[in-house]
Amino acid sequence: MTDQIDTEFVRGQFPGLSNGWILMDNAGGSQILQSGIDRISGFLTNEFVQHGGSYELSQKAENTLHEARCAAQLLVNAELAEEIIFASSSTVSIANLARAMKSQFAAGDEIILSTGDHESNIGAWEQFEKIGVTVKFWPVDPVSLTLKLDDLEPLLSDKVKLVCVHHVSNILGVANPVKEIAEVVHKYGAKICVDGVAFAPHRAVDVQDWDIDFYVMSLYKFYGPHCSVLYGKYELLLELDPIYHNFYGKEIVPGKLEPGDPNYELTSAIPCIPEYLIELGRRSGGQGSSRELLCAGFEAITRQEDYLVNEVLRFLGARNNCSIVGPAVNVNSSRLPIISFKVGGMDADEICQAMDKYKIAIRFGEFHANRLIESLKASENNGVVRISLAHYNTIEEVRALIAALTQVFEGQRYEENAGCSQA
Ligand SMILES: Cc1ncc(COP(=O)(O)O)c(C=O)c1O
Repeated sequence: MTDQIDTEFVRGQFPGLSNGWILMDNAGGSQILQSGIDRISGFLTNEFVQHGGSYELSQKAENTLHEARCAAQLLVNAELAEEIIFASSSTVSIANLARAMKSQFAAGDEIILSTGDHESNIGAWEQFEKIGVTVKFWPVDPVSLTLKLDDLEPLLSDKVKLVCVHHVSNILGVANPVKEIAEVVHKYGAKICVDGVAFAPHRAVDVQDWDIDFYVMSLYKFYGPHCSVLYGKYELLLELDPIYHNFYGKEIVPGKLEPGDPNYELTSAIPCIPEYLIELGRRSGGQGSSRELLCAGFEAITRQEDYLVNEVLRFLGARNNCSIVGPAVNVNSSRLPIISFKVGGMDADEICQAMDKYKIAIRFGEFHANRLIESLKASENNGVVRISLAHYNTIEEVRALIAALTQVFEGQRYEENAGCSQA
């Protein structure tokens, strides 16, 4: 078998892949498309003026921001471009949302959070405990390492106003069924806020089909610039409090939710992402509307990622010194290419640092999902090692990773044996 995607075309779009490194820290940050770099540079060169002026160039710059909103609208399949709110990062997007929702909560209300979430979708909501809101945790099932709907239902009641959940954990790598979760949450009259950061670069998001109220993603992990997108249903955005100047009325959507304005030059790059996915879809035999081509692009991504993921899972699963932190099999492409593991007798940092010699970038730690790591009792030995792949990684790179890890593991066994003979 060979790569399941046109790697020559794909890799040719990302200049950062030509620096001799094997980049497998993509859930930390992906590479940006050349077309995104060109857009940023073009904006700074030709349109770098303040919005809101009556002159033509100012309006052109403003239109560039609108095009970015339309691009993000296509990415999540929102009904309206105005349902897209930009910020500098998902952490900021969620903190802004919490600030804008505060007046909707009162003492006695409840919020459900999940132990599997990145701290971004926990800390911002825990603040509400100060006003008498009760926070309850939906735990990750310790056996299947997934969120189980059966564990959510007993937590729900008419006191619950909001359920916050990750689409994919940045450690466990498996996709949660957000459509089913949203259906249950809505049955109780609550809203749902989904952290889609680790999902969006790998599979097509569809907020309308899934009936999601709020959805967040970071574009610097999604082949784009360092900024984030918060999607919100238009009628829910209208209900939010303005968090810009006090003269911004409630009806000013999305402006009232973008304090200080979005970063114009970075947001100008956003159309590069759907354009690339559409081209990938077209080259993979997709047909139809922009959205259909974009989805075909994601199907091509899924094929390549499945191929790579299965290879890594097979390798780790066959070693008796490795334990995978997350589901060990990829059922129906639900296992995204974020694979964490621990190695008996070795520190996670030791393994990652040993990879430097091979110019392979992987990461160790708790990944700001400290509560999950604690609940799994996985914090000793400096947390977990995480391999996070993207569709632009190749099978050759995965084999180089496996060879390097094998050498590091064998080296450790050799040292252990040497230690035994000395004893
Ligand atoms: C699952 C998940 N959620 C949220 C975040 C925070 O994103 P940002 O860095 O854009 O604030 C991250 C960052 O790694 C993440 O992996």
